[in-house]
Amino acid sequence: MANDDKFKKVISHAKEYGYVFQSSEIYDGLSAVYDYAQNGAELKKNIRDYWWKAMVQMHDNIVGIDAAIFMHPTTWKASGHVDAFNDPLIDNKDSKKRYRADVLVEDYCAKVEGKINKEIAKAEKRFGDTFNKAEFVSTNKRVLGYQEKIDTILKRLGQSLEKEDLEDVKALIEELEIADPLTGSRNWTDVKQFNLMFGTKLGASADTAMDLYLRPETAQGIFVNFLNVQKTGRMKIPFGIAQTGKAFRNEIVARQFIFRMREFEQMEMQFFIKPGTQKEWFNYWKDTRLKWHKSLGLGEENYRFHDHEKLAHYADAATDIEFNFPFGFKELEGIHSRTDFDLKQHEEFSGKKLQYFDHEENASYTPYVLETSIGLDRMFLAVFSNALEEEVLDNNTTRTVLKLPAVLAPTKAAVFPLVKKDGLPEVAKQIVEDLKWDFNVFYDEKDAVGKRYRRQDANGTPFCITVDHDTLNDNTVTIRHRDTMEQRRVKIEDLKDIVKAEVDVKHWLMRMK
Ligand code: GAP
Repeated sequence: MANDDKFKKVISHAKEYGYVFQSSEIYDGLSAVYDYAQNGAELKKNIRDYWWKAMVQMHDNIVGIDAAIFMHPTTWKASGHVDAFNDPLIDNKDSKKRYRADVLVEDYCAKVEGKINKEIAKAEKRFGDTFNKAEFVSTNKRVLGYQEKIDTILKRLGQSLEKEDLEDVKALIEELEIADPLTGSRNWTDVKQFNLMFGTKLGASADTAMDLYLRPETAQGIFVNFLNVQKTGRMKIPFGIAQTGKAFRNEIVARQFIFRMREFEQMEMQFFIKPGTQKEWFNYWKDTRLKWHKSLGLGEENYRFHDHEKLAHYADAATDIEFNFPFGFKELEGIHSRTDFDLKQHEEFSGKKLQYFDHEENASYTPYVLETSIGLDRMFLAVFSNALEEEVLDNNTTRTVLKLPAVLAPTKAAVFPLVKKDGLPEVAKQIVEDLKWDFNVFYDEKDAVGKRYRRQDANGTPFCITVDHDTLNDNTVTIRHRDTMEQRRVKIEDLKDIVKAEVDVKHWLMRMK
């Protein structure tokens, strides 16, 4: 399936099977705002739990908090977001459409990357089994030329943004002859900075109301609580504080479904360390977070690191874990070495000391911070789009199957009576009653059993359990596996253990070892 078609299919499947709806759809929706439906809310919760277990439960030096979305407005002055949390914008004078200038350039580079992929595909076809991709990309002149072009453009973009040289960003767009993707017009305005924070007010009367921001990242709720947590939890450096929660950004390029939203959820962890050890911890968290991703089995080839040319105002090193979404490799998670920037800024703006007393060193210092920050909605999209397959079966029919990692699937098992009579529904309902203490299970007696299997395949349910007439004699049922479609006969009393063996978090997280 072509990537565009695949992405459209992902969006329509997410709606059809109750995963994601456009927000306020009956009023024609709200751009870049989405609601998670009955299955989506479960999948999202399972991803959040999988992250929380790996980060908090499995680390005795990481604790979790849940800070408020509203924060004192000085927080955002101190963090630098009021002055520097901007996107470079450019308007097309003919179409009146507004774009992120850096995204226009990145999209241009993605097209050049598409040419590289075409060359690789052609060579793969030509050389067959003897094809060596690594050797090809490092020696083929055309590929090397394309790669050099991408590297040069991105380097220049990074440097211009770093220096706030917006004239050069515009010059780059003009030199590359980048046109408005909608109309083809090259009639551009200058590039301007645009702050991404949403403002709101606290208080009832217009004169006394206080201007607030909706938090654009959850991280600051951790920084301002650093000393409270350290003292009350008697935490010793190195230690981490984790949290998941909503963040808000007035994104200009609001497209690509739940990839870039205006209201989204982050899962962040700030790891407080001794100054000077940041390189070591940066590598540790890069490695650990990649292992977490890989444990879900979405395919090792679908991840890559992308080191930042342009560092955020708070970082001395940063990398993204990129995932191969249906629209190409894009950022899924950021790992940032944030130095002591945030704590020092909060010390200065609040006038309160935020230092750690190190008993081993017998000295106080402001800790450095290593941050891991992943968008829950992006992770949802990665998991969901990777799972959706149109499979051609031996009998030449196709089935739509959502091969979600079983640990994340919203419903773990569906239970069917083969027919709606002869006491089979009663037995099936009893199985549901017994299993629902441990798992989300679903009862279905409508339509032929083959159709019910297909519905659950498309829904992402890893197991279907069918009660038939033999069950009444020997207490056995058929259990069918979503991915292999293999069916086997098992005892009702063994069902819980069979399902648990595949959906248990431990079984999946152990793969990180
Ligand atoms: N505290 C650091 C921070 O917020 P970031 O790279 O701006 O860093 C971290 O964001 C992660 O949050 C990203 O890797 C992405 O997964 C997610 N994210 C950022 N903006 C988003 C948006 N508009 N919609 C959905 N997810 C977003």
